[in-house]
Amino acid sequence: MILKETFTLSNGVSIPKLGLGTWRIEEAAVAQVVRNAIDVGYRHIDTAQAYENEHGVGEGLRASGLTRDALFVTTKLVAECKTYAEAKGRIDGSLRALGLDHIDLMLIHSPQPWSEFREGGHFHEGNLEAWRALEDAYAAGKLRAIGVSNFERGDLDNLIDNGAVAPMVNQILAHVGNTPFDLIDYSRGKGMLVEAYSPVAHGGLMKNTALAAIADRYAASIPQLCIRYCLQLGLLPLPKTVNADHMRSNAAVDFVISDADMATLRGTENVAEYGDASMFPVFGKERQIEGATGTAP
Ligand SMILES: NC(=O)c1ccc[n+]([C@@H]2O[C@H](COP(=O)([O-])OP(=O)(O)OC[C@H]3O[C@@H](n4cnc5c(N)ncnc54)[C@H](OP(=O)(O)O)[C@@H]3O)[C@@H](O)[C@H]2O)c1
Repeated sequence: MILKETFTLSNGVSIPKLGLGTWRIEEAAVAQVVRNAIDVGYRHIDTAQAYENEHGVGEGLRASGLTRDALFVTTKLVAECKTYAEAKGRIDGSLRALGLDHIDLMLIHSPQPWSEFREGGHFHEGNLEAWRALEDAYAAGKLRAIGVSNFERGDLDNLIDNGAVAPMVNQILAHVGNTPFDLIDYSRGKGMLVEAYSPVAHGGLMKNTALAAIADRYAASIPQLCIRYCLQLGLLPLPKTVNADHMRSNAAVDFVISDADMATLRGTENVAEYGDASMFPVFGKERQIEGATGTAP
């Protein structure tokens, strides 16, 4: 039962193998979603300052009635925050918003501010400042583990070569048809657990007939196949859903994809359509829609 399994981070902290994503779930709705997920058996919730729902996530955690140590909460420092002082204040801001005295995992959301995502700037100094704030909060016991998201090789090397603590996690876009194998291997080689965000391509793989045919062989749905694919690659998937039935089925992945089907899935070309999420830089700037709005991923 995947909901009861854990990975172990490089500092010895256990992290549940399946997490619930909460991007684009509004503050007013997220508490009930988190509560439902915990009732289903989820113990790992992924949020971010940029999702503007940390307060509701905290409410859902408290409403579950579970003890703090039974739950694993990840949040992320906003991508635009690249100074020590601001990062320090924002870490405390997340603790307050979530209503927690510690956070299990905190990540730098992106090496670049979203408006400059993958435009060539590295923000090495700024990332080091933000990282030092995370290191200090880690040393103070406010954070049990620290890591990054959307970091590429050079961004990782900057922290590893110049920081005091190496990142424990890299959370990146990874799904069937878009799996950055080189970055996964590199991150792992540096001791990080790799988390797969948008494991169902933000819903963009749901109508894929080739995947449906493979999923049928396991009496599985496309999301189940996608989640199981991540797990068999040793990735920690973070599917988002507001629907309790989907939460249950996304966790029912105790089947094994054959080596032959894994090879097919690994070799699948990018076939996902990101739909209304194409405007977000993580899904490819060339498809960005001018004037689009929404909370950052
Ligand atoms: N670090 C980053 O920069 C970053 C970027 C993007 C995402 N993330 C994290 O990763 C999480 C997941 O990514 P995501 O939200 O982009 O997309 P995702 O999990 O790949 O897909 C979510 C979509 O799939 C649908 N879905 C999920 N399970 C389903 C099922 N069993 N049957 C039918 N539909 C299903 C959901 O609809 P329903 O809600 O209706 O089920 C939703 O529309 C985010 O919520 C966030 O926590 C991080």
